Amino acid sequence: MVKLRWFAVIATLIPSVAMAWPWSTDMMDQISIKPQHGPMGVRPFPEHSVPIPSTKTSSRIVDMDEADATKNPVAATPESIHNGMKLFEVICTPCHNYSGKGDGPVGMKLTLQPFDLTSDRIQHEVTEGHIFGYMTFGGAVMPSYANDLYPNERWDIVNFVRHGLLQYSQNWLKTHYSADKGHYDYTDKGGKQ
Ligand code: HEC
Repeated sequence: MVKLRWFAVIATLIPSVAMAWPWSTDMMDQISIKPQHGPMGVRPFPEHSVPIPSTKTSSRIVDMDEADATKNPVAATPESIHNGMKLFEVICTPCHNYSGKGDGPVGMKLTLQPFDLTSDRIQHEVTEGHIFGYMTFGGAVMPSYANDLYPNERWDIVNFVRHGLLQYSQNWLKTHYSADKGHYDYTDKGGKQ
């Protein structure tokens, strides 16, 4: 019995002695940086990759009624209209088309065809806040773009829709609508599409 106890004591001591031997390089002591260790361990996230409370992703406007009544705070400067055009080309044209008429390649596939943004209704009857609200909250089929566009970007698009789209649409139709074929020529991209 005594023998066995000694054996147990020695058996537990040997590994700790072995660890202390100079050639037992501990895996812990290596040059790689440990989690949360020093400034190199916690690298700053790239800008805009993490939402922080002050990020302006949502507006204070809570519903469509409030949006309808909201005045456009962004002046329709050439810069704003131009920025709105660029965003419109990327986000809105798949459905509303470069013509603005709602017959884009994706729009044509929807059960509810996107509304014509060159119509009197959108150009004159609804408020600018209404167009802003539609991008913010979406519609029956149209998705919300509140997470994809900052409020000021949405207002830039409003400015483009109201102050640039009619002319833009006519120019696009002139170069892309093929009367004899009776449809748009998407193969002639003209730098677009
Ligand atoms: C996925 C397709 C799709 C995209 C992309 C899209 N829309 Fe729409 N949009 C629709 C559809 C469908 C309707 C018809 C009404 C509805 O869905 O409620 C519509 C309707 C509208 C209306 C009419 C609102 C009214 O009361 O008459 C406006 C304004 C509008 N869209 C603006 C935009 C703008 C600006 C963009 C780009 C930021 C955009 N849409 C992107 C599908 C789309």
